Amino acid sequence: MTSKPSPPAAVLAGGGIALLALTLGLIQSSGFFSTEGVTGYRLPDHPVLMKNGYDWWWHNLVAVSRKDGSLRPFFIEYYVVNPKLAQSEPVFGKNGTNKPSYALLTAGSWGKDACKINNFYPISQFSADRNRMEVKIGDDNFANDTILYGAVSLSQEAAVAHPEYFSDAGFMSWSLHAEKVLSFNPGYGVSKGLRNLALFQMFWHVKGMRTRYSGTIMYNGEVFDVLPDKSYGYQDKNWGTEYTNPWIWLSTNKLVSRKTGEELQHSSLDCGGGNPVVAGIPLGVKLLVAFYYEGTLYEYNFSKLSAFVFPTITVTETEVKWHIVAYNFHSKIVLDFSAPKDTMIKIRYESPADGLIKHKNLWNTGYAKGTIELYKRTLFGWDAVDTLDGDMGGAEYGEY
Ligand SMILES: *[C@@H]1O[C@H](CO)[C@@H](O)[C@H](O)[C@H]1NC(C)=O
Ligand SMILES: *[C@@H]1O[C@H](CO)[C@@H](O)[C@H](O)[C@H]1NC(C)=O
Ligand SMILES: *[C@@H]1O[C@H](CO)[C@@H](O)[C@H](O)[C@H]1NC(C)=O
Repeated sequence: MTSKPSPPAAVLAGGGIALLALTLGLIQSSGFFSTEGVTGYRLPDHPVLMKNGYDWWWHNLVAVSRKDGSLRPFFIEYYVVNPKLAQSEPVFGKNGTNKPSYALLTAGSWGKDACKINNFYPISQFSADRNRMEVKIGDDNFANDTILYGAVSLSQEAAVAHPEYFSDAGFMSWSLHAEKVLSFNPGYGVSKGLRNLALFQMFWHVKGMRTRYSGTIMYNGEVFDVLPDKSYGYQDKNWGTEYTNPWIWLSTNKLVSRKTGEELQHSSLDCGGGNPVVAGIPLGVKLLVAFYYEGTLYEYNFSKLSAFVFPTITVTETEVKWHIVAYNFHSKIVLDFSAPKDTMIKIRYESPADGLIKHKNLWNTGYAKGTIELYKRTLFGWDAVDTLDGDMGGAEYGEY
């Protein structure tokens, strides 16, 4: 049980700008988002979320093929939707037929043979701690801040026979240790208003902005080793009542400094955002950019008047490109990343409200590659601090 004040409950209590101000004050003064608690299970914060909400814990990392030494990115997600509408079996959204209610363990890999395997469980087989990440789905799938294990599998026949699973066929299992070295707290981050009921539609918290994973992954008959220095890992969580639109994410932990030629172990990039609608007023596309450069955090927060973030996302025939420029009083960052579409998956989520998969083209990759230019402001303009080459980054873009 948590004894902390509960901002989402306050947020859901009504509408209006005054309430927004109050809520921000509450969030800041309660220190809610700076506590460990936020990494736990958030739906029980408010009855509305239990019947109209999702909550998930996402992990992605890079592993080394035992066969040929090549690097391959993987993702693992523990997800739950509308737990209060539970029935004895998972309730599938079926393209808007039902409000969904299930726990979902989903995992896969990007690449030329990208695949995402969805395994559904009834809510009765889901449990999670409210104060820290500790989530269990079924008997054999578990995640907390230091340990993750589980497996997903689906046959080709079952994938074809069950379109309601919106899943690829395949097999993946994982047994991993995690050590979180850098965190990022986006505050109310990528949140968006929902009608007059909820001001915020989507919350975000990045406990494992840079996470060192170790262990083993089995993927479609191949063994992969996960090595802490080469895992370039990431872990975050989202919860809310609807998925932001557009949806933008860009992150990488495989970073090489052009200044030193070294691969940096205490640096990390993470950008996330969408189009928050506050009390019915869309704010336009807003993004948070966080960049740790050897331990120093450079942060560009759209909700502070002193920071500006300009994203330009382009979808071409063959790739998706993220061009983001952000600056504040002290520094400026220029990001130029891209990833080939043929290594991506299109992530699908059923809306808690109506079971519809609204994002039809939510491009998602583990192969974002590009540059980060960092500048410091001087009296006379901008001084280049460093340029970094980023690779094997997680990234996402979708709009409907
Ligand atoms: C889902 O429903 C929409 C609208 O009701 C329809 O246009 C679409 O074809 C359906 N998709 C599938 C896969 O059934
Ligand atoms: C995660 O779970 C393992 C196994 O139960 C336990 O040994 C470890 O202490 C847990 N880690 C945290 C951070 O609670
Ligand atoms: C961004 O600014 C808002 C409003 O000042 C604050 O609540 C939030 O925590 C900030 N986020 C970060 C990452 O600093």
